[in-house]
Amino acid sequence: MSTKDFIFVLGGPGSGKGTQSAVIAKEYGIGYLSTGDLLRETIKKLENPPKDMSEEELNKIKELAGIMKNGGLVDDKTVIDLIKKKMSSSKEEHWFIDGFPRKMSQCEAFAAELGEPVTCLYINVPEDVLINRLLKRGETSGRADDNEEAIKKRLKTYIEESQPVIEHYKGKGKVAEIDGNRSIDQVHESCVEAIKKHWKLQNKVEEAVKNSKCCLLI
Ligand code: AP5
Repeated sequence: MSTKDFIFVLGGPGSGKGTQSAVIAKEYGIGYLSTGDLLRETIKKLENPPKDMSEEELNKIKELAGIMKNGGLVDDKTVIDLIKKKMSSSKEEHWFIDGFPRKMSQCEAFAAELGEPVTCLYINVPEDVLINRLLKRGETSGRADDNEEAIKKRLKTYIEESQPVIEHYKGKGKVAEIDGNRSIDQVHESCVEAIKKHWKLQNKVEEAVKNSKCCLLI
């Protein structure tokens, strides 16, 4: 684990953290995890709990589902354990960690165990735009927290708990702030530019296209 390095992808709910990091990770062959996705996979077990799941574990997962539905933050240990498990399951050396840390105690706990990020991408989007994006997504996403009430709570949690994290890393000179209120392609370009200052990246998609052209010529 200690040989791995990572970039935190931060921003409000609906800022485009997942959209950008999933695509860039695929494009450049970077490890990717989203704490929100890992938690949603965990609570999916409630739909069909394994027979050997203990009452205690079942109650814990129900508790996580309740917190997420209400736009709060689940406990640090649960999230950090999920991240460690995911990172150790793959040989990738560079990682995007999307949606973490969301509060100061998570920064401290993670730094003590896995070190400091290379940098943080902070995708900055005005609140009204965030709300509109999430309400629109809520029409089809089926996510329990994409409704007006939960969105307001997620924003409140973000302002109170997560913005201090961004300030913390700004103080360390470890924030690349990206204007996220532009087209997905424009945001993508700025994110890639910021990452390339820290990691030597090769575009796997472009390489694959080049290689396939070579094959055709032969
Ligand atoms: P999580 O899943 O991380 O939710 P979130 O932070 O609220 O953010 P989203 O995933 O909804 O949005 P996003 O920024 O990834 O944007 P996206 O790309 O999807 O967390 C869910 C919950 O899990 C939390 O509330 C908490 O309870 C718990 N949790 C997670 N991490 C935790 C942690 N570390 N500690 C404790 N608890 C934790 O885009 C959103 C929409 O906008 C999409 O429809 C997309 O198509 C659209 N869009 C994206 N970019 C653009 C653009 N440039 N222009 C127009 N539309 C765009």
